[in-house]
Amino acid sequence: MSTLEAVLIRIKKERPRKVVAFTGSGISAESGVPTFRGATGLWQDFRPEELATPEAFERDPRRVWEWYEWRRDLIRNAAPNAAHLALALLERQRNAEVTVVTQNVDDLHRRAGSTRLLELHGNIFRTRCMADGTISEALAPFHSCPPLCPCGALLRPDVIWFGELLPEGILERAAELVAGSDLLMVIGTSGLVYPAAGLVSLARRTSIEINPQPTPLTAVCSESLAASASYAVPPIVEAIISGGGI
Ligand code: OAD
Repeated sequence: MSTLEAVLIRIKKERPRKVVAFTGSGISAESGVPTFRGATGLWQDFRPEELATPEAFERDPRRVWEWYEWRRDLIRNAAPNAAHLALALLERQRNAEVTVVTQNVDDLHRRAGSTRLLELHGNIFRTRCMADGTISEALAPFHSCPPLCPCGALLRPDVIWFGELLPEGILERAAELVAGSDLLMVIGTSGLVYPAAGLVSLARRTSIEINPQPTPLTAVCSESLAASASYAVPPIVEAIISGGGI
């Protein structure tokens, strides 16, 4: 385990310019959005195979949509926390180039102001038409459940379910960014879901994990901070910014 002080000294010395933040549900935990695994995670109370697979949706679209509407409502009422905001602030600085590669579907990075954003698992505030694949923004609650497309077909959430492929080309773009990064921050992910978790081992330079719990990625990262995202990310961002002389 590393100390925050040691990590900040290292960052100021290395002056990273190309930064990738790889995030999981833990970055949104302090915004009140539940994670998936762990004692208070969603998968304690819900079975992924009944709610987050194409087969589950085919069997019972209404049940799947009720679960998504519950999550959409919860997330709509949540706000980005200090970790999301710090990453968005970093994007606005001239001395670093940051991309957020997220497994989260909660839209909190965008709401915080990040625009260089790769959403590996889609976005809970978009729908996809089951007939022709049209993707639409859908922020407001639906009047009918399951919601229908104007063409009459069923709509599904535009998220990636278990057993589905990631959006075309996105993993390749993320891999290129991670491999070319001076600094990879691995924030709030259990590192158990592939292919996303495989990105971390592609980092060639410094990688820092920020997670209160150890994960399979702890041994892969060059530094590991046993800390929450909102505690550790803002000072790290500050060190990147001040290391660049701004
Ligand atoms: P998990 O629920 O698997 O892991 C959340 C991680 O966040 C755990 O390692 C926690 O220790 C950590 N954590 C909790 N609170 C934190 C905090 N305040 N600060 C930092 N870390 C904290 O979530 P993911 O790794 O995102 O996939 O899960 C990966 C994928 O599994 C999700 O994208 C989703 C899920 O099934 C799909 O829906 C396809």
